[in-house]
Amino acid sequence: GGSDSSPITLAPFTAVAKSVADMVSVPAGYTATVLYALGDPLTAATPDFRNDGTDTGYENRAGDHHDGMEYFGLNAAGTARDVAGSERGILAMNHEALTDQYLHAAGVTANPRPASEADKEIPAHGLSFVEVRKQGGKFTYVRDSAYNRRVTPLTPMQINGPARGNALMKTKFSPSGNDCRGTINDCGTGYTPWGTFLTGEENWAGYFTRSASDDAARGGATAKSVVSLVRNGRPQGAASRHGWETAGSADQYARWNISQTGTSTDGTDDYRNELNTFGYIVEADVYDKTQALRKRTALGRFAHESAAFSRATAGKPLAVYMGDDSRGEYMYKFVSAASWAAADANPANRITTGDKYLDSGKLYVAKYNADGTGQWLELNIASSAIANFAGYKFADQADVVVNARLAADALGATKMDRPEWTAVNPRNGEIYCALTNNSNRKVEPSGSSQQAVDAANPRAYTDAPTAASAPGNVNGHIIRMREAGDEPGATSFTWDVYLYGAQSDVDALKVNLSGLTADQDFSSPDGMWFSSKTGLIYVQTDDGAYTDVTNCMMLVGVPGRVGDGTVQNLEYTKADGSKLTVPARVGAKPTNATLRRFLVGPKDSEITGITETPDGKTIFVNIQHPGETISKANVTDPSKFVSHWPGNAGYGAGGANARPRSATIVITRNDGGRIAADGDEVL
Ligand code: FEO
Ligand code: CA
Ligand code: CA
Ligand code: CA
Repeated sequence: GGSDSSPITLAPFTAVAKSVADMVSVPAGYTATVLYALGDPLTAATPDFRNDGTDTGYENRAGDHHDGMEYFGLNAAGTARDVAGSERGILAMNHEALTDQYLHAAGVTANPRPASEADKEIPAHGLSFVEVRKQGGKFTYVRDSAYNRRVTPLTPMQINGPARGNALMKTKFSPSGNDCRGTINDCGTGYTPWGTFLTGEENWAGYFTRSASDDAARGGATAKSVVSLVRNGRPQGAASRHGWETAGSADQYARWNISQTGTSTDGTDDYRNELNTFGYIVEADVYDKTQALRKRTALGRFAHESAAFSRATAGKPLAVYMGDDSRGEYMYKFVSAASWAAADANPANRITTGDKYLDSGKLYVAKYNADGTGQWLELNIASSAIANFAGYKFADQADVVVNARLAADALGATKMDRPEWTAVNPRNGEIYCALTNNSNRKVEPSGSSQQAVDAANPRAYTDAPTAASAPGNVNGHIIRMREAGDEPGATSFTWDVYLYGAQSDVDALKVNLSGLTADQDFSSPDGMWFSSKTGLIYVQTDDGAYTDVTNCMMLVGVPGRVGDGTVQNLEYTKADGSKLTVPARVGAKPTNATLRRFLVGPKDSEITGITETPDGKTIFVNIQHPGETISKANVTDPSKFVSHWPGNAGYGAGGANARPRSATIVITRNDGGRIAADGDEVL
């Protein structure tokens, strides 16, 4: 087990320079190769990927927009789970979204969508489970492995936890409310202490449409279902992201229109409740295709990112930390009712072990105080603030978890700068959450969609003269927490900010609060992960504000501890000339020895998803949507593509003229050592 006393240092590599080159750059002494890209076949019978928009059959190919990812070890024979298996394993990953123009030979056809196009786009979302194997010192994916599997927006799965069988979950597909169909916009991931995969459904709401008169059909603007839909991003008249509901009357298309059209009282004759079956942490046993995936409703419904576990300690509950990525949304934790039993680390039945830990427990939301303390507020129907909430009348605990955002509103939780990934430091249990940015963070907010600066979200750039045009928190920050008594079930914590994203050449007093240098500067932290082997922290970026200078990147660092820095007062001038002072908690400033840029990606990509082999000698990283900026008019003209990666790196068809593809890369150290870590220290 880890402890703060064991040494941890970064290996002596030279920081990767910021770059706008259309390639993956890693430090000298490391090698990055492409492993598994959009369209790669997952069965022997699936044709090679032509990458010209004519490919079909994504149910048996890698999906698009590779995102969060976890590695599951196999034994040498490939017959069973081996938690130490570093030469053979299963990568489980999310396919969050699409660069849709490239899925079709001449780009996307406008509504009404051809079924042939929808039939590619729908299964290009979801999850991949793909075997990877090291042979001759090099990892490749195994095209014909029996473990290979796609989970798509059409895969049947079951509802677990408080909302199972609830009236909110009854659909045409499942009148019992016990089952549902598919997962979509899966973003971050989690690895359970019992060896299963968790995936977080993020921007699910946008795939569905409602008619412009649907509020009236549901009983008016104050009807509960309307309040819930609006709070979760689906006002009436909202268009769906891909228009799949226009592709035909068959169920797999019609379901994306969730307007109330039926005459039943329980919603089993239309798709009105369909949206209630999305927005969860979903659990899968990647080793066993016979086990149905579970939507773990006890962990709440919102725009999920990753699910990071507290350190598993026998006799104590497990905590799961989760962000809700939207401007002004919240940070949550779930605490299991069951206490951890060490025998469950390798149980006979993994998915029912998940039932034990993830179907009953308490869901909390975070409130951050200006003095560096905070509280976990429980989302419980018995809470008077929830029971008496004027904005929504909760029926039961199922209603509370399904409408977690509304319950958190009732409790007065702290509105954050877009909580992306969470991660737990394996050495000391501290919790990190990447707050990627927030254009709605203002010194003087107006309207309900803007948020005022506060201690936990203290930056709103003021180089613009008026509140309305101020750009908000452009570069994001990483908040971290320490539970009271280091207990996963604690209801209070202390916190500070590990790093503030910034360009190194900007004002250190107001913006570059962490004093980042050119070897470390970054913007918009998003993916974030600790190596459980080395204890190093990895930060990945998804940035629109810094891409004029550099493509997105990944940093690696040695984290400090909550409270190791200072408090710096930020002074803002309001429109009327008065002053507003906000205390910004600034963690110990990084040095070249504690934080360096490790990777820069190709053009127009986000770096996301990272996992390791159990020996810490191989990491896998996802490159999402290289060259995503492409119009229908330009999709047949390679000279207009923003990126040609990974074709230009020699992977797949097309070479230097290739359509770009999301892909997983493998990174190893040429001397065979652990990635980015000095020496042989093992946690
Ligand atoms: Fe899918 Fe918020 O990142
Ligand atoms: Ca993300
Ligand atoms: Ca993001
Ligand atoms: Ca992205």
